[in-house]
Amino acid sequence: MAAVAEDEITSLRSLAEAEAACTRCPLYRDATQAVPGEGRVGASVMLVGEQPGDKEDIAGKPFVGPAGRVLDQGLQDAGIARDEAFVTNAVKHFKHEMRGKRRLHKRPNNYEIERCKIWLDQERDLVKPATIIALGVTAARSLTGKTVTIGKIRGKLLTMADGTRLVVTIHPSSLLRIEDEAERHAAYRSFVADLKAAAAVKPEPKARGRSR
Ligand code: URA
Repeated sequence: MAAVAEDEITSLRSLAEAEAACTRCPLYRDATQAVPGEGRVGASVMLVGEQPGDKEDIAGKPFVGPAGRVLDQGLQDAGIARDEAFVTNAVKHFKHEMRGKRRLHKRPNNYEIERCKIWLDQERDLVKPATIIALGVTAARSLTGKTVTIGKIRGKLLTMADGTRLVVTIHPSSLLRIEDEAERHAAYRSFVADLKAAAAVKPEPKARGRSR
């Protein structure tokens, strides 16, 4: 697919086309397709995950697999309508390694996160959310430019350089890895509390620029 020049990106559609042609890092080579964000321009809440998983890579849509089901439940319990939010990822291609016939998720590195940030920035410019929810360390790294410890900043209301409010929480897939039921329920309740904190943020009129 031919590359789309940055100044030709004026809509989510042209952005998705540009993402589909992306070769800015090697991850495009082993992925089925780039997975663009989903939602509408003007959504007041943007949710940013890590990267598409196996199911998302095939479907071409974010959060449609097991982590997506946890996210959907969390959003419902926090009173956030998914179809009114914009759902995306910090990295648009699925990074994985083969284990037999299975494609196992691999966390993107800082270089891959940095190379992909151009697309997240474009999504932010087009959608102009009042509040962004970073799901996990990769999203937090992309949005803050720093390595963060989730436990230290989760649930706090942060303000980005352009005035957008930011709430960092865990990645929903981490809940799927907790075996102890009581522990998992407690972690889920904290996750929903973080989402509720983000949902409670009142949009403020603000000057917008490209300063990140
Ligand atoms: N995990 C993510 O971070 N994003 C998805 O889209 C799916 C799983």
